[in-house]
Amino acid sequence: MNNLNNQKINLVSGMRPTGKLHLGHYLGVLQNWVDLQKSQKYNCYFMLADWHSLTTKYEDTSLIEESIIEITRDFLACGLDPNESTIYIQSQVPEIAELHLLLSMITPNNWAERDPTLKDLVRASNQDESNLTYGMLGYPILQTSDILIFKGSVVPVGKDQTAHLEMSREIARRFNYIFKQEFFAEPKPLFTETPLIMGIDGTKMGKSFNNDIKISATEEETITSVRKMITDPQRIKRTDPGDTERCMVPFPYYKIFADLETRKTVKAECETAQRGCIDCKKQLADLINTKFAAIRAKRQSFSDTQIIEILQAGRQKARQKAKENLKQIRELMHLNYFDKV
Ligand code: TRP
Ligand code: SF4
Repeated sequence: MNNLNNQKINLVSGMRPTGKLHLGHYLGVLQNWVDLQKSQKYNCYFMLADWHSLTTKYEDTSLIEESIIEITRDFLACGLDPNESTIYIQSQVPEIAELHLLLSMITPNNWAERDPTLKDLVRASNQDESNLTYGMLGYPILQTSDILIFKGSVVPVGKDQTAHLEMSREIARRFNYIFKQEFFAEPKPLFTETPLIMGIDGTKMGKSFNNDIKISATEEETITSVRKMITDPQRIKRTDPGDTERCMVPFPYYKIFADLETRKTVKAECETAQRGCIDCKKQLADLINTKFAAIRAKRQSFSDTQIIEILQAGRQKARQKAKENLKQIRELMHLNYFDKV
């Protein structure tokens, strides 16, 4: 399919609902999604992949509901527009589950078993491989169903999803081969070049590491987090000159959030000890608070009820398309025995 006759390209992506989003999500994912939506080139489908969060955390599901509301609030505040994009909860589109089952029939076990992304996920979730569930093994096949149910051909994701996407292409290809039709496009990942943002402790920012700054943080919470950032470890006394290259966290943040002029000033003042780390961090917290002021205000403007309504509307839109596509898939697989009766 090409882009003629207003036939837009289908774009699908998702996020697991496991807590409010942080600045890393904003810079690495959301900003990009919003730009893609604005480009008007795609039919965008953005899902809250609640089934995927069950793959590693199935005993305690108590936080999923609230996470869905808060993440959707983050989405909307950052500029995803439910009139432009379809925003929905994965488990409210049961057609995805049916496709997951159908695709699992044609997917060789060892494709899933050798998926390195899956191995990373198992490691990150502190499960040992002998506890691997059937659902977890099916993670990339479920993700493939998320994409193919909308005949998605573009998938904006992080580099960490490369192997999953490779498998999605292989499954699409295999389906087309077995059922003798170029039915599914081979979904391509769309990687973004975004600055990697560190947590306040200088390691990778993560929700579970207690080192993140939330999009939804208050100004005070932001100031407190920035105050804890690790600076230049060799700068012991206020009168010691610092080195912005050694500065672990604040200076890299300046590179993301400040203009060139400000960065030059910070560097010059830091390296001549004219500036102390405490003041430097105050200024940084200000920059972050200014940057997110409008988004945070917009967050407050949505009631839970409004958010639920938006997700309901997304569900309708998503299901309509999913049903249509699933019907065609069943036909192709000759499973539509009595559909006409
Ligand atoms: N596995 C993805 C992640 O952890 C989330 C996801 C679920 C996804 N379904 C998807 C991404 C479909 C792209 C397309 O980031
Ligand atoms: Fe880092 Fe600023 Fe301290 Fe220099 S003054 S070490 S840039 S926090």
